[in-house]
Amino acid sequence: MTGPSLANLWGRKAGELSSFDRYSDALKSSGIIWDDRALDGWLTNPQRMVPDNDMLFEGIKDGGARADLLAFLKDATKPGAPQQMAQQGGMKGMGGMGGMMGGGPDPNLKKLEPGIQVKAISYCRDTYRVTTADGKTRAFWERNLRFKTDSSKDGPEKGAPAIMPAGMMGDRASVIFAAPEEITKMIEPRC
Ligand code: HEM
Repeated sequence: MTGPSLANLWGRKAGELSSFDRYSDALKSSGIIWDDRALDGWLTNPQRMVPDNDMLFEGIKDGGARADLLAFLKDATKPGAPQQMAQQGGMKGMGGMGGMMGGGPDPNLKKLEPGIQVKAISYCRDTYRVTTADGKTRAFWERNLRFKTDSSKDGPEKGAPAIMPAGMMGDRASVIFAAPEEITKMIEPRC
């Protein structure tokens, strides 16, 4: 979701998907039609091909690696190519959050396992305590907990935010809400 969907990419005009709200003016006005040649240039060095575009990626200098990637993309993005399924599983310490630390598709948060459904958040001095639907409460230093929203079809239901791990050590996490107004409502100052 950081960048636009690459489904049906070949033959598409750059910067024109209505499902992506964050295109740069540079890409929108580039006039590029994505084909083998255009994509090879883009992936070699996006900033050289479209100055001031917003894709924070330095490019792939190795021509062989680029050719391999383009061959893969061409197949994976063609119309009717199977969609990758979101992964869900169990992770140490935060029941049911596995398979989500190393990239891959973001999991759908509509139906949450109890271990990741947030029931309450309290705030005391420099500490948030997050209680999940399985009855467990975990404490986080306030700068290690992030509050986010996901209003998409994959986001959580209203009033049922999810907690997701965000680091190797289990000391950081994100709580993802359906909408911003839910955030302060849920956080209760209490020591
Ligand atoms: C090899 C890896 C990548 C490939 C193949 C790729 C491919 C593309 C393509 C083809 C577009 C244009 C799509 C369109 O016109 O609709 C695009 C745009 C974009 N990508 Fe990537 N991308 C890659 C890596 C990344 C990374 C690492 C990020 C962010 C960290 C990123 C973020 C974006 C963003 C924000 C845009 C919109 C740029 C703008 O409007 O200026 N991409 N990407």
